[in-house]
Amino acid sequence: MLTTLWVRLGAFLGKVFLIVVALGLIGWLLATTWFAWHYRGPVSAQEQIPLGESAMTQGIIQTAISVVDQHRESTRYLRDAHAKAHGCVKAEVQVVSDLAPALRQGVFAEPGKVWQASMRLSNGNAYPQMDSAKDARGMAIKLMDVPGPQLLTDQQGRGEQDFVMFNHPNFFVSDVAEYAQNIAAQANGQSKQAFFPGWDPRTWQIRHMFIALGTLAPAPNSPTESTYYSVSPYKFGAANAKFRVAPDPQSCPQYSLPPQNQGLPNFLRNALNQQLSADRVPACFVLQIQRQDPSKFMPIEDTSIEWKESDAPFETVAKVRIPAQDFDTPALNLACDNQSFNPWFAIEAHRPIGGINRLRKAVYEAVSEYRHSRNAEQ
Ligand code: HEM
Repeated sequence: MLTTLWVRLGAFLGKVFLIVVALGLIGWLLATTWFAWHYRGPVSAQEQIPLGESAMTQGIIQTAISVVDQHRESTRYLRDAHAKAHGCVKAEVQVVSDLAPALRQGVFAEPGKVWQASMRLSNGNAYPQMDSAKDARGMAIKLMDVPGPQLLTDQQGRGEQDFVMFNHPNFFVSDVAEYAQNIAAQANGQSKQAFFPGWDPRTWQIRHMFIALGTLAPAPNSPTESTYYSVSPYKFGAANAKFRVAPDPQSCPQYSLPPQNQGLPNFLRNALNQQLSADRVPACFVLQIQRQDPSKFMPIEDTSIEWKESDAPFETVAKVRIPAQDFDTPALNLACDNQSFNPWFAIEAHRPIGGINRLRKAVYEAVSEYRHSRNAEQ
């Protein structure tokens, strides 16, 4: 009697299991088919600015500034995002000597040219936390002494071209409206509402939630071992493009980083110090451009979409070298904190485009000004 009951229960649970697996497979198949149908080319090669976009920007600035206030570290005011630096290092960016004519745009116009640059490596979080915490990792590069007019009319003296990236190819929101809703929910501590704003399933952002979870990744062994993406698009002369910076160990002396104690809070800074300062070994990267092909699904106005490499390859336009150096001193670390990187510190040939970049124009400037003025008052 008891045996029969167990056999029946086993058979029933087996059936339930098979039904759940089958439903899961059907759901996955339907979602994949819908995605392929909904998200397909061609797309516009021009920016398309939605009505009401700029009106949302002021609210986002206020949220960003409240985040800066909330997370201020003892007496200093830190960045709203990427608050913790692993270090600011000097770098050299050399345009490849046999660059194809179509790729000779803006700061890459002259093959072989070497730009002196400053690079800040960071964690993505709004306040400093253990490097072992899951997070995005940032790289910001500033080329110096760049001739020609700057995009921001009040910043003409800068002579800079910035490249601001993190180590995930796409963003957890599509556009400014979604960013406004998401960040307001997060700032209020309602992380569930950030991706599930209401009961209506049409408002649920399940795909974007998975992008956010994928962005918050375990730390690399060293900041020199990650690939960093622009995520959002930029002009590249007359074309539109995204860019990335990827490790290129073949261009540097062979080096293997000794194992770091990943239990230490700042082990990514330690790893950088070990390579550049203690072992005196440079780090090498390539800077690559991915040009938009508007006949493919490579949209300008949706940063949640990764442009597929099968649709347009990344092409190397420059080599980036971080020479051996001592970057970890109190004076250099303070200067690092006081520096500002901004995708709009740029020349026309590399103009940031798309909604998320239009938003960044106002927000980076406002937050940078706010933290600088507050720190000057201390
Ligand atoms: C395309 C997606 C984005 C990427 C790749 C990105 C990357 C970065 C990186 C690497 C930094 C640190 C720069 C440094 O080292 O000084 C940074 C800073 C910052 N980001 Fe973003 N970010 C993105 C989108 C956004 C958005 C949508 C906002 C808000 C509207 C935002 C707001 C900020 C702010 C306020 C700072 C600090 C600026 C300062 O005080 O100097 N970012 N971002």
